[in-house]
Order: sequence, then structure tokens, then C-alpha cells
Amino acid sequence: MNETALKPGFLSRSVGPLHINLDRQLYGEGHVQSFQLSEANQSLSAFNQKLFEGGVVNPTENRPASHWALRSTAHTEQTGQSAQLMINGRDELVLVRQVQNHMEAFVEEVRSGRYTTPDGVPYENLLHLGIGGSDLGPRLLNDVFAKLELAEAPALNIQFAANVDFHEMKAALAALNPKTTLVVIASKSFSTRETLHNAQHIFKWLDAAGPQYRAKALVAATCKPSKAVEFGVDPQRVFEFSESVGGRYSLWGPVSIGIRMVHGNAAFNELLKGAALIDQHVRESEASQCIPTLLAMSDLYNLEHGVASLMLSPYDSRLSLLSPYLQQLWMESLGKGVDKNGKVLNKPACPILWGDVGTNGQHAFFQMLHQSRIASSVELIVVVHPNHDEVQSHQVLLSHALAQSEAFSVGRLNAETELNNPEINFRSCPGKRPVQMVFLDSLTPYSLGALLCMWEHRTAALAALQNINPFDQWGVELGKGIAEQLEQSVPPGHAPAENPVTAHLIEHFLYQAGT
Ligand code: F6P
Repeated sequence: MNETALKPGFLSRSVGPLHINLDRQLYGEGHVQSFQLSEANQSLSAFNQKLFEGGVVNPTENRPASHWALRSTAHTEQTGQSAQLMINGRDELVLVRQVQNHMEAFVEEVRSGRYTTPDGVPYENLLHLGIGGSDLGPRLLNDVFAKLELAEAPALNIQFAANVDFHEMKAALAALNPKTTLVVIASKSFSTRETLHNAQHIFKWLDAAGPQYRAKALVAATCKPSKAVEFGVDPQRVFEFSESVGGRYSLWGPVSIGIRMVHGNAAFNELLKGAALIDQHVRESEASQCIPTLLAMSDLYNLEHGVASLMLSPYDSRLSLLSPYLQQLWMESLGKGVDKNGKVLNKPACPILWGDVGTNGQHAFFQMLHQSRIASSVELIVVVHPNHDEVQSHQVLLSHALAQSEAFSVGRLNAETELNNPEINFRSCPGKRPVQMVFLDSLTPYSLGALLCMWEHRTAALAALQNINPFDQWGVELGKGIAEQLEQSVPPGHAPAENPVTAHLIEHFLYQAGT
């Protein structure tokens, strides 16, 4: 994007393949200028400095957040800078480089067919097991990469099973052969019930084909290597990452080893470079030019004005898994009720993030955004250069995205007159919905890396601006604990459930099941 080609006076910013426009937001250039001089800006800069220095930014778990280090080799390549990141007496950058080299070598062995099955033939399939941050990122990357026609063709048929709902596993296994399938067990903690349960099932599936298949098939990505080894994974194929990398921030490292195996190291390293560009942008830009900061400020301004919903619609079907991925990043990070000092917040710390690809969403839920009384901000993503030659399709797609942006903002010109007239007020679209647009030059591993990293920094900035911790998720733990107890009560378990409503629901389940 050539910045000089843009007319001055608009609230637009560019970095690398990304361009944003906030002219239809509540947050305006005046706010940007006053933020630049504010204390909030200073505390955000201090937060970013601490993040990149490896300081403790996750106080409830007494940890730094070192996910950005997973792409630091790309940063080093781009800037020539090398650095250290000392955490608990070890240089995390050394670990990152070692594991990255190890991964790249193993990936090449698999892709070239040198790493073979016990029958001496190349692996043809890969099953990725993991949930939450150990699933959503790799799944998104696979979905996008598969649609990009990358220089290196996919080397393996990949399937995913995250849910302990066996229907997902059944469908995945139907497309796999146990004699030619590698199994990646991705789990930061290596103790997540769903993932370990699914892995146990896969052990049986592999063993049924022959006792020789399991040992060579297993690969693990975790920050608890000893647990993976104890579980039966060969230490040579355990790829470690740091405890300081949060699950929902982990797609840059070993958790995505399956994506490297399927789509190649080159594409994956491009993703890291795109992300490293945004790290550099955040480190070096002043607030008024920093895209994640501006978006976070705008998100905060909307929240302060009662807008607690953010509908995200990429006008590119290749990004259909973007919303589920970002929902975890955004809402697990920002769905908090107290700040770092324990003070109860008086408003939501983030808008609910939801949405689907355009134009599909226009024919589903956009109606509510245009006319209902629910206040929502809207973010539309457009890819400038598509990966096809159908100019007219792209023209229609783009015109719809731009039309929606205008319609949300401007509404119907005579909306007020219409509203005052009960005979025709059903037509009235009041407009004034805050809208922003994001343009990507084209969809590539590089631009995807930049987009996802931008969202990480936007999430962290919105947390920092409200003094909340974006790196813990204590709420998730509650349900896990209750489920563990209830496994004894849910059929065929027999221990009575303590909670009367839960006990009643189990009784009803038994009645409906006819037992
Ligand atoms: O959903 C809660 C969570 O703790 C996420 O933060 C995490 O990404 C997911 O579970 C999976 O955890 P793990 O990678 O440790 O299996």
C-alpha cells in the first residue's frame, strides 16, 4: 500500500499488507490526538515494553507472555537484530530456535517421505488432536493455506478432532488409514480431558491395525514434555514451547507442526514474517500511527458508549474460520470481570465478537444490525487482489462490502422523517452504526500472519488500557472441575449428583434414554 496515494484527512493507516479505515467510527482523529498525549498512552507503551522485555504481564500466573518470541526468528531475519529473552534463568529465544530447527528438519523428513511408516512407506495422513488454542489456530491456518494454491502442494491429508463428541472423531477417522497416519497431540498442559481422552481412543485405533504403528505415529506439541513422554510419545518427536505462551496465542509454534507438515516450512515461515512485521510496527510506531492501538482505542470508546457487540465479516470465503479463531483470542483474553488490582469492572471489557463471511451474513443477521435497537460495531474485511480472474465477481463482492459500510453509517437519508411516521417507519434504517474497514492487499501466509498478529496486539492493548490481564482464563477452570466430578454421576456412573437441578436433569436423561 502506497501511503502517499491516500488522500490526507481520512482516519486511515497502513502497514505492510494491512490498511484500516476508521472514518465511520465514533472514535475520530481528535480522540487520536488527545490519546497521543494521555497517561493511558504512556501506560500502554509501558505494557508493550514489559511484554517485549519478558516482564511479568500475567500476574495471576506470575508469568511473562512470550508468544511473540515464537516469531522472533522471523524478526531477527528481517531486522538483523538478535536478542535474549531471559525467563526463569533460560533464554527463551534459544529454545525457540532449537525447537524451530528441530521441527523444520522433522517436517522435511515427513514431506520428503524419508520418515516412513513401520511398513517403509511415506505417511499420507495426519490427525491433529487438540482443543481451544491447540485447535483453532492450526485449523484456521490449514483452511486458509489449503485455499491459497501455495507453491508447495499439501503433502498429507489432514483431519482434526477437537471435541470429545465422538461424532467429530468418527468423521475424521473415516477419512484416515491407521497404517499411514501421523497423530499430532497438541496440548499446552498435556492434561486437557478431551484431548487425552481422544488420544487414548486413537491409541486403540492404531493398535488395532498392528502393535507396530503407534510408536512412530505419535508427535506432541506441549510445554510439558515429560508428560508427553510418560504418555508414550518418543522424546524425539516432542516439540516443546514455553509455559509463558498462552494457549490462544500459541499457533505460531509447535502447536502448528501439523500445518508445517501438510503445507511446508516455507509457507509457515512467511506467516511468521508477516506477524513479525506487526511486532516491529508495535515496537516502533507512535500511538497515533499504530494500527492495533488505534483499533483498541476505538473498541474502548465504543464500549464506553454502550456498544458491546462487534460483528466481524470478512468478504472472503477463505477466511470463514477467522471468527471462531478470534472469538477465543478476544473473549478468553478480555472476558474478565475484575482488573489487575481486583477492582470490579463497571462495564464489559470487550464487545462480544461474532460474525460470518460476507456477503452470506447480509442474508442472515445483517438485518438486526441495520434496524434493531442492539448497538453493534461492524468490521468488514476486504481482500484487494483475489486469487482468481473473475473480475466481475470481485466487483460485486467489493460493491457489497462498501455498500454495507455506507448503509450502516449513513442509513436511509430520510430515516428520521420515516421514524416519525408509523405508516412507513418499518422501512427506517437510522444508520450511525460504527463501522470500520480492513483491507488486505491479498490473502497470503504473510498477510494472514500480519492480520492475526494485529489482532493479538489489539487484544492486549484493549486489556492494557483497562488494566486487565489478557493472559489468564480462570473462568474456564470452573466448568472443567465440575465436569470432572460429574463423570461419576452421568450414566453409566452411579454416584448421585450433589446439585438438585443437575440430579433432576440426569434423572430426566435416564428417563428419556429409557433406562
Ligand atoms: O479452554 C480453556 C483452555 O485452557 C484454553 O485456554 C486452551 O487453549 C485449551 O483449554 C486447551 O488447553 P491445552 O492446550 O492445555 O490442552
